[in-house]
Amino acid sequence: MSLKDHSNRTIDYLRISVTDRCNLSCAYCKPRSQVKMTPHQEILRYEEMLRIVRIAVPLGISHIRITGGEPLVRRGVLGFIAKLREVEGIEDISLTTNGVLLGEMCQGLRDAGISRLNISLDSLKPERFREITGSDAWDLVWQGIARVEEAGFSPIKINMVPVKGVNDDEIADFARMTLDRRLHVRFIEFMPIGANDRWHTEACVTSDRVRDIIEREFGPLVPFMAKGSAGPSDNYQIPGGRGVIGFISPISKHFCASCRRLRLTADGRIRPCLLSDTEIDIKSPMRGGCSDEELERLLRFSLEIKPERHYVSENPAACSQRIMSRIGG
Ligand code: GTP
Ligand code: 5AD
Repeated sequence: MSLKDHSNRTIDYLRISVTDRCNLSCAYCKPRSQVKMTPHQEILRYEEMLRIVRIAVPLGISHIRITGGEPLVRRGVLGFIAKLREVEGIEDISLTTNGVLLGEMCQGLRDAGISRLNISLDSLKPERFREITGSDAWDLVWQGIARVEEAGFSPIKINMVPVKGVNDDEIADFARMTLDRRLHVRFIEFMPIGANDRWHTEACVTSDRVRDIIEREFGPLVPFMAKGSAGPSDNYQIPGGRGVIGFISPISKHFCASCRRLRLTADGRIRPCLLSDTEIDIKSPMRGGCSDEELERLLRFSLEIKPERHYVSENPAACSQRIMSRIGG
């Protein structure tokens, strides 16, 4: 069965944020002044998430990505992933993490059946990492990445958000990692999420600019076509390099027409677009005792209200009042 929205987009990918808590406080994601955690009882229980998944899969959802906050800080997340794997019809489960707990949870993630990992890393310099994240955990993240490479996870994607004057001098160094490692390094354009007073047009380093910096250092990139790739990333390689360089360009060339996603927030809302606060509360009816049929109707309704595209160029400040750690990317 396939789930289509009003614009004939096939929706088969659900991102589940299992917690809004995070062990880092990245300046652009979870501003340190604004750390208001959702109380535990307001966070969906794993059984509630599984119920939603069991309803969504027969409708057409086949891909799940686990996000946060930082998903690995929520107790029981590996057991939850193992249960998700038992749901018939799920073809792919992946996880996005900041990498701090990767080293210690590497084997558990493998056993739970995860092979696709996305890891956020915005600096290769421990001191700068501390400025951005408020944490000394750079070594842990770096070792965690090496550990999952050794353990054979594939693909491993490193997400880097270049911000002008913060870390844009490290673009070539990130690209260089793909020369002899099979990593995917993806540069994501900085988005105005979370009423973010740090965001302004000039702070966002566009993909064209990033590509230009990389090509000046390494020569022309060659297109790379991944098997079954339908994500937002435009992929290339440095000729002779083992890894992949990806550009995710929500600002300069939005990819809304090919969006396949829905999001489930940790506090129980369906969010049809990353960059729109239009959401459906699914937790209240569920806790109120509603039937599976009613939940199915709400899921279908979320497709009707999925915005045709985002409106960053029209009104960046109005895109998302939710901070990124309460959405999950
Ligand atoms: P896979 O295709 O499952 O590997 O994931 P992905 O390539 O989408 O990677 P990931 O989920 O890590 O997404 C990377 C980043 O791209 C996100 O964290 C967001 O910053 C951005 N992104 C992902 N999906 C969307 C989307 O629907 N809209 C916008 N504007 N940005 C998105
Ligand atoms: N713009 C672009 N990417 C962001 N991320 C977090 N906040 C932003 C933002 N404002 C990225 C993180 C992580 C992913 C979940 O989203 O770096 O890799």
